[in-house]
Amino acid sequence: MEEISKVPAHVSIIMDGNGRWAKQRGKERVYGHAEGVESVRACVEAAAEAGVKYLSLFAFSEENWGRPESEVNTLMELMMKAIADEITSLAKEGIAFRVLGNLSRLSPSLLEAIAAAEKKTAPREGCEPLMTLVIFLSYSGKWDILQAAEKLALEYAGKPQELHDLPVTALDRYLVTAGIPDPDLLIRTSGEMRISNFMLWQTAYTEFLFVDKLWPDFRKEDFREALAEFARRDRRYGKVK
Ligand code: FPP
Repeated sequence: MEEISKVPAHVSIIMDGNGRWAKQRGKERVYGHAEGVESVRACVEAAAEAGVKYLSLFAFSEENWGRPESEVNTLMELMMKAIADEITSLAKEGIAFRVLGNLSRLSPSLLEAIAAAEKKTAPREGCEPLMTLVIFLSYSGKWDILQAAEKLALEYAGKPQELHDLPVTALDRYLVTAGIPDPDLLIRTSGEMRISNFMLWQTAYTEFLFVDKLWPDFRKEDFREALAEFARRDRRYGKVK
């Protein structure tokens, strides 16, 4: 196995291509989503083994609510099942589980399962988790910026000079990702080269990697290859070296 020299602290993935993967096999789209869960498992293992501190996955966007009801329901059921199946082993491994997004749109039963899973995997006071697995559910980047701006505006209401003097980083603590470092590496599978309203603010200096494989085919070795590619990148943050 290739030794990885520069490990990104935060790897994020736009898991794309489940539907096409199923279609190629003459099956329903949901079959691709179910197989995609296996790729999630593989990448969680690979990330934790490599020493990645945050692995975040774009599981369901605000726009995805517009898919056929049966597909939306299947995705929500898969999420419930994945939580039920995996949370004990995540807790045992020391992996903290978090769900971020516009959660007001989720069902009460899913919200309950998420809250219980977050509680069960939360690190003990003063302890660092081995890794944090962040699932973006009902999330969109523009929604995140708007809800953050609203909170910031409320906090600075009546203080125009203070508001004017804020550094650009001031918005960070109002985003749903507050306290989580910006992604170092963003992987998108399936050959599509766009950000699809994901973490628009947080990816200002993220390295992007677009891979042709469909998400259900993206497994451990692909994740390790992505880390190796990241290690070869030269990050300058707009400066010269
Ligand atoms: C994109 O493929 C994938 C999704 C919208 C859902 C991703 C969800 C999972 C992998 C399962 C549940 C997740 C977790 C974290 C347990 P697509 O449907 O857009 O595929 P297409 O572009 O080929 O149509």
